[in-house]
Amino acid sequence: MKANVPLLAFCLAASSVVVAAEPVPYRLPRETAELKAGPGSDVASAQCGLCHSVDYITTQPPGRGAAFWQASVTKMIHIYGAPVSEADAAIIATYLAANY
Ligand code: HEC
Repeated sequence: MKANVPLLAFCLAASSVVVAAEPVPYRLPRETAELKAGPGSDVASAQCGLCHSVDYITTQPPGRGAAFWQASVTKMIHIYGAPVSEADAAIIATYLAANY
């Protein structure tokens, strides 16, 4: 088989093009919801508004209970990758169960 020299040269040239990846500045929309004040609300506000509004919490049907909030926090950590320590997860789940 004969080598396709022009094609080979093109591929080499194309693969050496480096696209500079510059950070794109953006502004997050203003947060429209707030968590109720209470023990643990500061931890929850800091950790649970990183990816989505805390609306996701405040619009859940009320009184879902400790098991629901524990499972919800576990899901955020293990399924969606929320960077929350075990200690903070316990504080947040307790706070949410008491307030929502
Ligand atoms: C790493 C990103 C991330 C962080 C941090 C995060 N979440 Fe989420 N959360 C998600 C994603 C993704 C969804 C699903 C969004 C969708 O379906 O539209 C979601 C959805 C939710 C929902 C809606 C119900 C559901 O299960 O889909 C609730 C309630 C919720 N998150 C609570 C929390 C709480 C409480 C925390 C703080 C411990 C938290 N989230 C932190 C990513 C995150």
